[in-house]
Amino acid sequence: MASRIIPVGPFDLVVFGGTGDLARRKILPGLYRRYLAGQMPKEAQLIGAARSKLDADGYRAFVREALEEFIPEAQRPVETVQGFLAHLQYVSINALGPEGWQELSQLLRGDVVRAFYFSVTPSLFSALAAKVHQHGLAGPDCRIVIEKPFGHNLASAKALNAELATYFDETQVYRIDHYLGKETVQNLMAVRFGNILFEPLWNAQYIDHVQITVAETVGVGGRGSYYDQSGAMRDMVQNHLMQLLCLTAMEPPAQFDPDAVRDEKLKVIRALQPVAQADIVRGQYMAAGGMPGYLEDVGDPASSTESFVAMRASIANWRWKGTPFYLRTGKRMRARMSEIVVRFKQTRHSIFDEEARGKPNELAIRLQPNEGIDLRVTIKEPGPGGMRLIDVPLDMTFAEALGPDAEAVPDAYERLIMDVIRGNQTLFMRGDEVEAAWAWTDPIISAWKGDRRLLPMPYEAGGPGPEEALALMHRDDRRWKDIRV
Ligand code: BG6
Repeated sequence: MASRIIPVGPFDLVVFGGTGDLARRKILPGLYRRYLAGQMPKEAQLIGAARSKLDADGYRAFVREALEEFIPEAQRPVETVQGFLAHLQYVSINALGPEGWQELSQLLRGDVVRAFYFSVTPSLFSALAAKVHQHGLAGPDCRIVIEKPFGHNLASAKALNAELATYFDETQVYRIDHYLGKETVQNLMAVRFGNILFEPLWNAQYIDHVQITVAETVGVGGRGSYYDQSGAMRDMVQNHLMQLLCLTAMEPPAQFDPDAVRDEKLKVIRALQPVAQADIVRGQYMAAGGMPGYLEDVGDPASSTESFVAMRASIANWRWKGTPFYLRTGKRMRARMSEIVVRFKQTRHSIFDEEARGKPNELAIRLQPNEGIDLRVTIKEPGPGGMRLIDVPLDMTFAEALGPDAEAVPDAYERLIMDVIRGNQTLFMRGDEVEAAWAWTDPIISAWKGDRRLLPMPYEAGGPGPEEALALMHRDDRRWKDIRV
């Protein structure tokens, strides 16, 4: 399979927060990989903008170090790195004051796509938007990219949307949820809408339930102060898990275009039922196996923030009434595993003996690790001895099925940045979508405040999560898929 990289047109990309952690780990290495793949045009200009007093050479040295840390040596030939660094400029800028804006304005060119990436602390989003506007830097071909978290609740998300709308048209605002840039997440749409096989069965009549798991082995690490204000519900469920749920549950859009797709996702969020607290389990990891506990990680012995959440959600619409969606995410779990599992119902009538009966079909969409799709089907166990049924995987691990092409798959950030330059908003969240997601999340979180019965349950670092989360499924006579290494 030949890879089909289509270069994008000339652009200026300004990364506010250009010396920050996200820029160092994801944005700049991602841009380098696009350069390496031949997707970046000669005329691309990447401008780091941050408070640090650096000049362009100082910034290039900073970026070189980031590449050394995050790009394997074999992909860093000296001339290639030099070629990439030549695209870089730097402006020392004050988001709240006048310094640096004049210099930035001089670097920007008139006739190319212009994008501003707000990779800064959320409290600066509106100030930066205002500055970009006041300094006349936002022409019609200008885009802004906003990192998460987009608001802290419905009220703050609404306020931010309103503020951005005073300076920018919605078609210029790219709200990032990097889960939408993951290859398998897009594959979910390809599998659902590119095959005739699944869609007729994709409803409550044939699907028993859906499980969405995003388990991580990492703890909150150095992000304790941010995380302790957010918790798993705001950090993961309101955005990443919600997006996975939407793509699994949405109606087929009339075409694969940004508004058609986002309209359908919005309908799903609006059809989500409020979740009763009896259908939610919060958890907080405890020290185990040499790993510190959550309280130690965030440095607050009294914190009641959750690092794990599991819930049973329901979508009240024609397609899904009666099919629960179980969501679960946590830090410091036994393994890193993100997966959507669609469990079909048992055949209506079995013609085989009771003991021969096969298991229900299951479609698993693995986001990470080991991206791929696995469909479990029932066959006859080979050999003599009568009709015995077993279930076997029709497993498509992308790395095996696609060979070297699988390795060339861009990471979520690279793909999304290129989509910004191309002006394609399909994989970005629209303002109304984010607000609807908060409208569903807010009451769940507010109920936790001050109610001691709803405190997080302890679970061991490195384990499968709280017992109560397992019970949430057992209660319905169902089981979570094992979180395995
Ligand atoms: C981020 C969250 O949005 O996603 C982090 O803030 C989380 O807490 C991360 O670790 C997970 O992303 P990925 O791509 O590693 O699954």
